[in-house]
Amino acid sequence: MTGRIVVTGSFSYIGAAVSAELLRRGFVVHTLRNRRPPAGTTITHAPLRFDPDHLLRELTDAAAFINTYWIRFPWVGRGFSDAARDCATLIEAAAHARVGRIVHVSVSNASEASGLEYYSAKSEVERLVRSAGPNYAIVRPTLVVGPADVLTNNIAWLLRRFPFFLLPGGGAYRLQPVTLEDAARLVVDAALEAGNLEEDAAGPEIFTFAEYVRQVASACGLRRLFLPAPDPIVLSALGLLKPFLRDIVLTRDELAGLQQELLVSRKPALGRKSVSAWIQANGSKLGREYVNDLDRHFRSDAKKPIVSVCAGAGVKSG
Ligand SMILES: NC(=O)c1ccc[n+]([C@@H]2O[C@H](COP(=O)([O-])OP(=O)(O)OC[C@H]3O[C@@H](n4cnc5c(N)ncnc54)[C@H](OP(=O)(O)O)[C@@H]3O)[C@@H](O)[C@H]2O)c1
Repeated sequence: MTGRIVVTGSFSYIGAAVSAELLRRGFVVHTLRNRRPPAGTTITHAPLRFDPDHLLRELTDAAAFINTYWIRFPWVGRGFSDAARDCATLIEAAAHARVGRIVHVSVSNASEASGLEYYSAKSEVERLVRSAGPNYAIVRPTLVVGPADVLTNNIAWLLRRFPFFLLPGGGAYRLQPVTLEDAARLVVDAALEAGNLEEDAAGPEIFTFAEYVRQVASACGLRRLFLPAPDPIVLSALGLLKPFLRDIVLTRDELAGLQQELLVSRKPALGRKSVSAWIQANGSKLGREYVNDLDRHFRSDAKKPIVSVCAGAGVKSG
């Protein structure tokens, strides 16, 4: 494949890692973004606006369109059905612009039958991708672990601040995280394939949630008391932190998805890098600062690039 690849969110989390990987492989990257471009970036950019004419202009002549756009939870009157509608606008525009290929970043175990709207709305978007017209790839990550990640970092933050950690429902349910590096590689590989493709981006290791948290504690050099607790107690305890953090640490649906083991792939793992090794290597940095998702998307940090993963690929310092 040659030519320009359009990516949503090159200055966000997974979009940044995907863009860095594309640049490393010599592609020209154009992004639809909300965030300010970091100084020195070689990535060209335009605002992420769900206006069909604007999108048609931005997507015309693209060899591929990689869509990472989604919301983590409903907020300020926008829910998953709105995100799905926005994705439909993006996908229709990509088809109209006759892009060479659509690559959609979905989520592991997306299903229209899911009682969790994050997963059912994702599945609805997958259906649109399949019927849009251009060749497509759907890549479904589990939990993506890397620099600037929210969930693992904030587990570490809680571990650093409190002498105990409440394990909702005991923590025996499993998860199969994938490194950001592997996830980005799989998305870019999927963009370069010729035929239609659907795959999970999951790492080579599976842990119980309790094992995962213990591992983060050990990487941070912390000895903590791990207490099994009913879900409502854990959610209420996190709710008590809300006025101080001014953030949503974990939603009820995210906890349900975790407990339903939706972050475990049902297919052979395509991720190669050990998440344990990543956590071990990054333990001294994890959780030093709380990552506030509401600040990141809606308040003080909403325009700031999440640059750490761009460093060294297309972003020059200063
Ligand atoms: N991170 C994970 O562990 C994980 C796991 C499984 C699947 N995924 C999927 O991977 C894709 C990328 O996720 P990510 O973790 O990289 O999230 P992200 O950093 O929030 O990026 C998602 C994209 O959507 C935009 N976005 C997010 N919230 C928005 C809002 N409220 N209004 C407007 N734009 C918004 C982001 O732009 P801004 O950053 O500028 O707001 C960015 O372009 C998503 O489809 C997600 O469902 C992620």
